[in-house]
Amino acid sequence: MKPIEVKNLQKTYGDLKAVDGISFVVNEGEVFGLLGPNGAGKTTTIEILEGLRERDGGEVKVLGCDPWKDGYSLHKKIGVIPQEFTFFEKTSPREAIVYYADLFNIKVDPDQILRDVLLEDSAKTLFDNLSGGQKQKTGLALSLVNSPDMLFLDEPTTGLDPNARRAIWEVIRSLKAKGKTIILTTHYLDEAEQLSDRVAIMNHGHIVAMGTTDEIISQHGSGERLEINGEEKLAEYIKANTELQVNYDTAKCVISIPLNKKIDALAALAAAEQSGLDWGEIQTRRDSLDDVFINLVSGEVDEQGEIVSEDAESQLSRKRRR
Ligand SMILES: Nc1ncnc2c1ncn2[C@@H]1O[C@H](COP(=O)(O)OP(=O)(O)OP(=O)(O)O)[C@@H](O)[C@H]1O
Ligand SMILES: [Mg+2]
Repeated sequence: MKPIEVKNLQKTYGDLKAVDGISFVVNEGEVFGLLGPNGAGKTTTIEILEGLRERDGGEVKVLGCDPWKDGYSLHKKIGVIPQEFTFFEKTSPREAIVYYADLFNIKVDPDQILRDVLLEDSAKTLFDNLSGGQKQKTGLALSLVNSPDMLFLDEPTTGLDPNARRAIWEVIRSLKAKGKTIILTTHYLDEAEQLSDRVAIMNHGHIVAMGTTDEIISQHGSGERLEINGEEKLAEYIKANTELQVNYDTAKCVISIPLNKKIDALAALAAAEQSGLDWGEIQTRRDSLDDVFINLVSGEVDEQGEIVSEDAESQLSRKRRR
């Protein structure tokens, strides 16, 4: 049995299928990243796993429990940071930990927990006066009070500066090193790449890609390509004078040539040189997780807010919701 098993999970709000039949498992000791644009269904999914929202359909097992039916016993075993975590303004992190320990009716060493989340310097600062990063660390501290084996972190670093984000990453890495299973949502793809063993990308209630970031990039991204900064005329010249496929991005003024063989780059550059036209920077690149993410989840919207072009998954999903 895996610590998290989800099969065909569904959740509807009125006419909206917020989670539309998703399935996945999370392995023990794994950091599993849930990615997706605003409204994709990440928080809904996480809160169903935490036993805070009732599902409409499908099967969910968390640490062997049905989170909705066995919420009481499950809550003793998991740690949670809700999206936009906040706490009583006039309470310090240390007092908050003691308060939580009382609620769970357990004895803890608050100073050890503060050290674990790198918050010992602000132990006695009132919540109101903590920085954004310190507030998030307080959330992490509270999620650790009951020594959980599994943590649910919903956007733990949103709005934080790069240093504060890295400090939270350090804490998450140390929790992983202790063998905790962690589900994390984030809008920062670099964060997902840095921390997650595997990720799932959600869009309109569906999982549109899942695996390690390398697997997702190789499955959904394009292979290596040569990019040349230059005018459209140059793109046309290369196209007319080689056998290569040549694409042109008018917004960025970038000529992009898929490289089936490395030697294709030589033919492209020889043609560019022959053209007598100016060209700027050249580089070869592959799709990054950002590129793949944008391709999988984006749909262009016109001035009236109507979707004018979108990926196949979005079209299907909108049709299903109608
Ligand atoms: N309690 C609710 N009642 C009605 N609709 C809801 C409710 N909660 C969420 N929704 C809708 O369900 C969809 C999914 O919301 P959810 O909060 O799960 O998205 P998310 O992926 O976490 O987004 P974000 O990245 O903005 O946090 C959204 O369209 C949202 O408006
Ligand atoms: Mg959310």
